[in-house]
Amino acid sequence: MSYIEGYASGCPECQKEAEAEASAARAAEYQRLAVKAKLRDAGIPARFALATLESFVADSRDQKDALKAAMKYAADFSEALVHGRCLAFVGPPGTGKTHLAVGIVREILAQGHSALITTVGDYVREIKDQCWGKDKESTESVVIAKYRAPDLLVLDEVGVQFGSQTEENLIFTLINKRYEDLKPTLVISNEVEDGLEKYLGRRTFDRLKDGGGLIIPFPWESYRG
Ligand SMILES: Nc1ncnc2c1ncn2[C@@H]1O[C@H](COP(=O)(O)OP(=O)(O)OP(=O)(O)O)[C@@H](O)[C@H]1O
Ligand SMILES: [Mg+2]
Repeated sequence: MSYIEGYASGCPECQKEAEAEASAARAAEYQRLAVKAKLRDAGIPARFALATLESFVADSRDQKDALKAAMKYAADFSEALVHGRCLAFVGPPGTGKTHLAVGIVREILAQGHSALITTVGDYVREIKDQCWGKDKESTESVVIAKYRAPDLLVLDEVGVQFGSQTEENLIFTLINKRYEDLKPTLVISNEVEDGLEKYLGRRTFDRLKDGGGLIIPFPWESYRG
């Protein structure tokens, strides 16, 4: 029965029932809008608006293992927060690394945690554009605080551009601050594990693996085209 029908019938029980229904519908709509706003604020790129753990097709053994690891990480995220447990997805282009990371972000947002997705390029550019030079609008601490705050930070495209010492230092600063706060970081890279260690530097790589941090390989063909 709709709220209008319940109200029109004049029966007090029906009215109560209809009011409860209308109130539940309002709460569900409020919840839906709140999740939508959180997804937008998490920086999920438009291409991945529909990417979820459920929509990830896993045919091979390796794909099933990667999906299982992603599902477990999302399900146990409260525990990952206690230990500051990180995760890394490594593999060639188009293998669904960003897709699975977005799936994890969705799950943990629904659990009430906070998350942010960015790329190394965007993070470093934000620091350089906003904090360096004479017309600077911000400070490194302010920009770093933004990336330090969320419960989960997804740092995508690690190792895509030439890794300068400055870039290595900026990534170390961010991952180290998060490490000190026991806040997990999910790193995504086209490098293999050794290449990732080389690019990030030993100190950052060590922090990623501390507390049970896992490196998940994506060793299959591109899903694109
Ligand atoms: N196993 C899969 N099931 C369903 N869709 C997939 C799967 N793998 C990839 N896709 C889709 O293919 C496209 C490419 O995937 P994605 O961008 O996540 O790859 P990637 O590993 O992050 O690549 P890159 O290293 O180039 O950034 C996306 O649209 C993604 O949703
Ligand atoms: Mg990607």
